[in-house]
Amino acid sequence: MTSYHAPVLPREVLEVLEPRPGRRFADGTLGGGGHTIALLEAGAEVLGIDRDPEALAAASVRCASFPGHFRARHGNFAEITALVRGAGWETVDGVLLDIGVSSRQLDAPERGFSFQGEGPLDMRMDPSSGFTAADVVNTYPEDALKRILRDFGEEKFAGRIARALVGERQRRPLTTTRELAALVERVYPGHSKRHPATRTFQAIRMEVNAELASLEHGLEGATQLLRPGGRLAVITFHSLEDRIVKNFFRDRSQRWIDRPEWPAPRPNPDFRFDPIGRKPVEAGEEEVRANPRARSAKLRWGQRGAEGA
Ligand SMILES: C[S@@+](CC[C@H](N)C(=O)[O-])C[C@H]1O[C@@H](n2cnc3c(N)ncnc32)[C@H](O)[C@@H]1O
Repeated sequence: MTSYHAPVLPREVLEVLEPRPGRRFADGTLGGGGHTIALLEAGAEVLGIDRDPEALAAASVRCASFPGHFRARHGNFAEITALVRGAGWETVDGVLLDIGVSSRQLDAPERGFSFQGEGPLDMRMDPSSGFTAADVVNTYPEDALKRILRDFGEEKFAGRIARALVGERQRRPLTTTRELAALVERVYPGHSKRHPATRTFQAIRMEVNAELASLEHGLEGATQLLRPGGRLAVITFHSLEDRIVKNFFRDRSQRWIDRPEWPAPRPNPDFRFDPIGRKPVEAGEEEVRANPRARSAKLRWGQRGAEGA
């Protein structure tokens, strides 16, 4: 089994979260535990959450050398408030969300995330949920497939791929990652730098795991948990998610809203975070050389204001 890879932006995450003894953090995407271990090493306490029971089990073994400082919970970070409060913490000093699939999930052909290996059309981060990639591919109407490929995959040829999928499944249902990858390859016009099925797999995975809705709920929930001065750090790997995070912080870090039709600016009811810079933190050359996955990582963060409701 492939091991977990190095966490991305490790130094930058620590600079933002400022862990130290006596501080408590929720890691909503425990994964291999790389970031959590760095927080634990700085003396902080961490509650680690993951939808994937296998990730929880593996990270729990790695974090066993921090007894009393680490606990794990299975669940979706969309419910982070309930998960953290259920563990007995009313507020936390910081929350980390490092979005997406782990390299361990991607590299395990039997999980069905990758077009490179032969596996079932599964793609569930949480195998206890009933709904798989095969359900999406074999039961969704053509227009729904097209919308998912376009909106979640930003796939230019969404219509063409959706049509081919529906044609193919009339002969027999698609069951494997290779079948899906081969079908996309067959109908994809011209050459592309990346494998033609890259965007299709991303889109279907995001649908199976309701990733964007989870992110939106997770950002709200994490904000509720932060003590005044506490920090929320979010790492994303592609533009759709980064846009959600960017807009989330933008909309909540303006104290006043002004509209041309108003006689005077009004207080922003969503104001929660102290104003911070708009630019995301990105990996330096050295990290990208050592860990190519870091190339597209963007870290955005906010500090809960003392007055935010
Ligand atoms: C990129 S990895 C995290 C890596 C981790 N930061 C580390 O240092 O090892 C993402 C992890 O988040 C989990 N995950 C993704 N979306 C989730 C969600 N909505 N709720 C809980 N866990 C989620 C995945 O199962 C995966 O294990």
